[in-house]
Amino acid sequence: MTRPLTIGIPKGRVAAQLSPLLEQAGIGTKNLLADDRRLVRESDDGKVRFLLLKPDDVPTYVEYGVADLGISGRDVLLERRYDLYQPLDLGIGRCRMVVAGPKDVVVGQRPRVATKFPRIASEHFARRGIQAEVIYVGGSVELSPLVGLSDVIVDIVESGSTLRENNLEVLEHICDISSVLVANRSLYKLRHAEIAPLVERFASGLGLLGK
Ligand code: PRP
Repeated sequence: MTRPLTIGIPKGRVAAQLSPLLEQAGIGTKNLLADDRRLVRESDDGKVRFLLLKPDDVPTYVEYGVADLGISGRDVLLERRYDLYQPLDLGIGRCRMVVAGPKDVVVGQRPRVATKFPRIASEHFARRGIQAEVIYVGGSVELSPLVGLSDVIVDIVESGSTLRENNLEVLEHICDISSVLVANRSLYKLRHAEIAPLVERFASGLGLLGK
């Protein structure tokens, strides 16, 4: 027996914004939203299975075909290239990838840049002809210019409060980020009869929800 259609869901900020989209596409999310620690859940009619994942892991589960579909931030997809079909930008989880630093920082020819996104950062500075020294940190990135680990950071800004509250400001805009529906390439073909209508319903839901 084939497994139910499986969707990799990122735990955290985006999860709440996803529910109206899934509901609009006819997928009941009562179980998905239940406040417990289950990592595998089902849609209310049992036809769709959700895997609750760390956002960075969603593309991996989809690429290996453990999930047919997933919802992934464009930041993750840019940072670690995956071989995935990307049928739809969901327009949720909107934020910006930026270079930020202290107000009066002078960015020289070899700036030190702390980031969770070393590839995006290196490519950005390389495009500008600057050979940055990119330092990987796993979180609390805003701390690093405050204590001298780096001159600037490359990070995501959503509301801007983390920057503001740490006396940092946006120096350059790198790109806009949002959540993307990703699909396993082979499964998209194999299970086309199930997946394509679902993608269609997502797409028309985006219109209805004004995304
Ligand atoms: C992200 C990002 C910023 C913050 C931006 O971090 O890396 O630090 O959110 O959001 P804001 O503009 O709304 O303040 P996250 O909360 O994921 O935590 P982390 O520092 O542990 O990576």
